[in-house]
Amino acid sequence: MKPQYLLIPGLLLLGACSAQTKEATASVPTLKDAFDGKFLIGGAINTRLVDGLDPKGDSIVSLHFNTIVAENCMKSEKINPAEGVYDWDDADKFVKYGLDRGMKVIGHTLVWHSQLAPWFPLGADGKYVSADVMKERLRNHIHTVVGRYKGKIHGWDVVNEAILDDGTYRKSPFYEILGEEFIPLAFQYAHEADPDAELYLNDYSMASPAKRDTYVKLINDLRSRGLRIDAIGMQAHMGMDYPDFDEFEKSLVAFGDTGVKVMLTEWDMSALPTVNTGANISDTTAYNAMLNPYPDGLPENISREWNARMEHVMDMCLAHADIVTRVNAWGTDDSMSWKNGWPVAGRTEYPLLFDRNHNLKPFLKKYLPQE
Ligand code: G3I
Repeated sequence: MKPQYLLIPGLLLLGACSAQTKEATASVPTLKDAFDGKFLIGGAINTRLVDGLDPKGDSIVSLHFNTIVAENCMKSEKINPAEGVYDWDDADKFVKYGLDRGMKVIGHTLVWHSQLAPWFPLGADGKYVSADVMKERLRNHIHTVVGRYKGKIHGWDVVNEAILDDGTYRKSPFYEILGEEFIPLAFQYAHEADPDAELYLNDYSMASPAKRDTYVKLINDLRSRGLRIDAIGMQAHMGMDYPDFDEFEKSLVAFGDTGVKVMLTEWDMSALPTVNTGANISDTTAYNAMLNPYPDGLPENISREWNARMEHVMDMCLAHADIVTRVNAWGTDDSMSWKNGWPVAGRTEYPLLFDRNHNLKPFLKKYLPQE
């Protein structure tokens, strides 16, 4: 007997086979069908979901996504907490989760200044190690992590957030010790460890013209050295008043013009007031109310505006589907987004593709195949 799929808004439940349910169970329109042949669609998932502690999240991921990325479990502080020590538990389960569902599994991230294992750049004296030692550590880390998942991970965010908004290099430990060379080295090591894996540069604020220019130079430099780089990840953390969509699109096109593909890798859009740290409000209660104005649900007019902005971005991706190969939300449903805790803790945010009841956001409905 074939299992039947019961349609509940935004959710798929396995149910018993019966004559009644048969009639009510046409195939469910899914996001992965909607964008089939255009680009992959997916989200970042956390260990709660992989461990079965978020069954509704699991349902939407399994039904709608054909790609997933590790939200935290592959970052160096987690996966390589001490020199020569690797903690594979969560990463192994994450990779298996995706492969069991036939998904393209994305690794995030090999080289990042944040959530960097504290030991990584430091010697026994607590000072930065030499360039030679750092190269060896970088090589070991990348070879070990990429090597373990050779043939299983579709693509890696090799270097994350290396460039500042003004187009200069971030003064990370990698940069301080190895200079600009840490980027080509990381790409070389990743390719050595898995020649078939796609390799990406990933960053936020990609609408910045200065950042765009530096990334274009960087891609051209990597390519002129014969190094593999497949795509630029535009993180796409957005809000109600940023980014400038025209500048964002210019960057998307400029990256595509270099010959690499483009991915929206960490897409979310805050529906809350953008935090202005200079706000002159001395009453903390008033300040908190201003910053967290919709704890009980998004007002209709704000929801409409948010959906229109998201639709604009999705339409942009579709218009450039020759360049855009993956659209990836940074999370699954609103309740688990990092935006509930940043830049202000304890806000009720609405940034993702699914709401707290695991229903698809309205703007997505127009893309779904019609029944
Ligand atoms: O795992 C510990 C847990 O043991 C501890 O009890 C708890 C107490 O705070 O913290 C847990 O770690 C948290 C971790 O997420 C896992 O939940 C960290 O505090 C928290 O800082 C960390 O935040 C992550 C953040 O990266 C770190 O910079 C977010 O979940 C994750 O969504 C976010 O993702 C980044 C991308 O990797 C890169 N681009 C920006 C994006 C958003 O910041």
